[in-house]
Amino acid sequence: MANLEVLISRNRIAQRVAELGAEITHDYAGQSVLLVGVLKGAAVFLCDLARTIDLDVRMDFIGVSSYGKASTSSGEVQLTKDLSEPLDGIHVILVEDILDTGVTLNFLKQLLMARKPASLKLAALLEKPARRKVDVQAEYIGFTIPDEFVVGYGLDYGERYRNLPDVCVVRE
Ligand code: PRP
Repeated sequence: MANLEVLISRNRIAQRVAELGAEITHDYAGQSVLLVGVLKGAAVFLCDLARTIDLDVRMDFIGVSSYGKASTSSGEVQLTKDLSEPLDGIHVILVEDILDTGVTLNFLKQLLMARKPASLKLAALLEKPARRKVDVQAEYIGFTIPDEFVVGYGLDYGERYRNLPDVCVVRE
């Protein structure tokens, strides 16, 4: 059993998510927005974020798998589940739990841009700048964290701990 240490408490997460939701509500005033969650990790963040946005919000999910995370390079990401609707003319926010090397978001950004949305922005609850390999930026970022292995609030360790309400560091 891993030893877990709270890095970002549920209260801080809720407060920051509400701030991001208010920012999005302001930025997209009078418009509809489609939140696209990247399975599986982003599901928890997306559901909380959606409820802090006071706009016409729709949700969709996309699935990807990445291979050899330690040595990722562009092109190693594969689509495992596609969106259910086309994106043309739609304001899209791609929602991720964590922006790590940037390989996944860069892949998805290119994939979705090719579908001609009205606009595309990125939202990530967490980012680890120390790990970035691809130059991709998110417009909405919850927290910048050090290069630690984190779980909870959607993030897993061997598919476990996604249901933890806090973001925790795994100490072996
Ligand atoms: C994690 C996370 C992002 C990606 C970020 O997904 O949810 O999708 O890695 O890493 P990157 O910036 O280095 O590409 P993971 O592959 O762990 O799948 P999961 O969301 O199902 O846990």
